Amino acid sequence: MSETYRYESIVRTLRGLIERGVLRPGDRMPSLRDTREKSGASIGTIMHAYARLEDSGVIEARPRSGYYVRSRPLRRAAEPVTSSPPTVSTDVDVANLVFDVLEAIKHPEIVPLGSAFPSPEHFPTEKLNKAAAEAARRLPVWSSVRDLPPGNAELRRLIALRYAEAGVDVAPDDIVMTCGAMEAINLSLNAVAKPGDIIAIESPTFYSTLLSIERMGMKVVEIATSPRDGIDLGSLRNALNALDVAACVVMPNFQNPLGALMPDEKKRELVAMLARTNTPLIEDDVYAELYFGKAKPKPAKSFDRAGLVLHCGSFAKSLAPGSRIGWVAPGRFKPEVERLKFISTISTPSLPQAALAEYLKHGGYERHLRGFRQRLRGALAAMTEAVATHFPAGCRLTQPQGGYMLWVEMPESIDALRLHQLALAEGISIAPGPLFSVKRKYGNFVRLNYGHFNVKSTVNAVRTVGHLAGDLLR
Ligand SMILES: Cc1ncc(COP(=O)(O)O)c(C=O)c1O
Repeated sequence: MSETYRYESIVRTLRGLIERGVLRPGDRMPSLRDTREKSGASIGTIMHAYARLEDSGVIEARPRSGYYVRSRPLRRAAEPVTSSPPTVSTDVDVANLVFDVLEAIKHPEIVPLGSAFPSPEHFPTEKLNKAAAEAARRLPVWSSVRDLPPGNAELRRLIALRYAEAGVDVAPDDIVMTCGAMEAINLSLNAVAKPGDIIAIESPTFYSTLLSIERMGMKVVEIATSPRDGIDLGSLRNALNALDVAACVVMPNFQNPLGALMPDEKKRELVAMLARTNTPLIEDDVYAELYFGKAKPKPAKSFDRAGLVLHCGSFAKSLAPGSRIGWVAPGRFKPEVERLKFISTISTPSLPQAALAEYLKHGGYERHLRGFRQRLRGALAAMTEAVATHFPAGCRLTQPQGGYMLWVEMPESIDALRLHQLALAEGISIAPGPLFSVKRKYGNFVRLNYGHFNVKSTVNAVRTVGHLAGDLLR
């Protein structure tokens, strides 16, 4: 038997003992000498195997005491690895699964760890209502005509101001107002691709975008994506070379569900690569305001010189989900997007646009965002701690630098769809991994939402889900 085989076998056996709960968090690992006697491997091989388990965050070395099963994952080593989907185009069929899971989120008595929305308690509702009342009092009688696409001029001016503050060159006339970012993405897809075309997407990706692509009869090619710095440019280049890709949909800032943040250089390279093949980039940037770092991350749009980036934004995640106000800065595709907007819903409702313009001018948006980010950062720490403590050993979790989604990889034997059913029976929703892939991959992953105020009930819910996951393991 070769030393390589012995090494793999030791890693597999010890990892299996931990994943099945035979060795529990805090337990001492078999000593190097015991393992040598059982395996017949050299001490060097055994040390190498233990080092691998330590690197992957499953065990830890304690000075003069030996190795122990970690009670919580090592932050550095506990991230899921970059996904590795094959470079082939696929028809999309996710609708039924998504609607089954979303149905559960609607009930207010369910703890919504599976929801894509933050708690409504985070938003400045009273101030927004005041702004809406003021806007309603002053709404011009001609607003229904004036607000036809591209939409409310004052709101577009205020959004352009925010682009300017972030160093992005987008004028009010470059913007089309929409009913949320979802409509912005739909219009963008329609403007740049047709049924049968192939859309390159991150894997995993936001399920509603998959639903849109499915509804439009387009195909997708899933691209490997790192939980830390986003879409893998080498894999994207391969897809562009191998397939006739009509467009690419990417979330460079706080990707849903990974929370990944692309560094600026990578965004620049992404935009340049797509420009070389004249491929439009639909940039879904709904979480940009919810950053935990020092400054708001730039959009890929800021590197766009060819007008190929359609930048989709929204107030739904950062300020006013119920207003359903979003927008798209579609670059060279603006005339087409504007026409499609008119065809699909004529225009975006006037009053919510006027209300948001009123709030942005006088309501203290920046102050609200500062508090919101701080609360989310605290909630992330509490959620990370709870998952690390209560989920089975060997789970890996992302380290989002913004947004409110945590992506958890569980041991392979845990079926996330089954876990979702069991959690629902306990009054808790989770978002199972297969929602985020056309091939229903990520069968042992879940996305958890930490964007809810009531940390205590959230932590209790995480504990319950963690114990259910432990039961599935056994
Ligand atoms: C990544 C992403 N894009 C777009 C949307 C939709 O945004 P809106 O509510 O503005 O339509 C969501 C909502 O969950 C999202 O998570």
